[in-house]
Amino acid sequence: MRIDVLTIFPRMFEGPMTEAILYRAQEVGLVDLRVHDLRDYTTDRHRTVDDYPFGGGPGMVMKPEPLFAAVDAVTAVAGRPQRIILTTPQGRVFDQDLAWELSRQRHLLIICGRYEGVDERVREALVTDEVSIGDYVLTGGELPAMVIIDAVVRLIPGVVGGEESVYQDSFEDGLLEGPQYTRPREFRGLAVPEVLLSGHHEAVRRWRRRQALRRTLERRPDLLARARLTDEDRAMLEELRREGPVL
Ligand code: ADE
Repeated sequence: MRIDVLTIFPRMFEGPMTEAILYRAQEVGLVDLRVHDLRDYTTDRHRTVDDYPFGGGPGMVMKPEPLFAAVDAVTAVAGRPQRIILTTPQGRVFDQDLAWELSRQRHLLIICGRYEGVDERVREALVTDEVSIGDYVLTGGELPAMVIIDAVVRLIPGVVGGEESVYQDSFEDGLLEGPQYTRPREFRGLAVPEVLLSGHHEAVRRWRRRQALRRTLERRPDLLARARLTDEDRAMLEELRREGPVL
């Protein structure tokens, strides 16, 4: 997958995008990430990327010309990106479903919004998706772009070792993951639940499922309405509701 990013702070991407899994994904050629400095696509001496809003008002607006020029330049060398994403608190809230959808594209371009916003013509003529990472306001779209890239890239086949883990994570079936344990069996008087040491696969599976359901019921009951539940799940939930909260 090719991912182009347009930003006025390209250096913000240096640490997060050059370590660990994201680094490896690029090294092995599964991801071709290109971060572009928007100022390279300006034509004036001051490399201006923003201007005052017509009609007055506070703040500055991102000018259309550098954004259009940058998208044209990317298109000239790599074809038109399938999705052109603008990060903005006004967008669709990013979630695992959107991460999957984006992970199936060959070429994404992300515009990191800044200032009070971008000239509306960028939205009208360039952007295919406006995406927010949550209901809070950040100083700019760079961190949201990195969040989106991280969530999307790990879903590309081959990026995360042990494909299965990707499918077992929280949200993949609409539930939160239950508790996990590793060695030692007892630590500071705290023991690992007996069932996990039993070697009884079916009992372990049922226990894990029940814990996932409990955690979701306690922490994110809103997720249950959309979760993919089996008859067994429903019966477990019924039981958990009767038992009430465990503290
Ligand atoms: N820019 C500022 N805040 C944002 C948010 N929550 N999501 C996406 N882009 C943003």
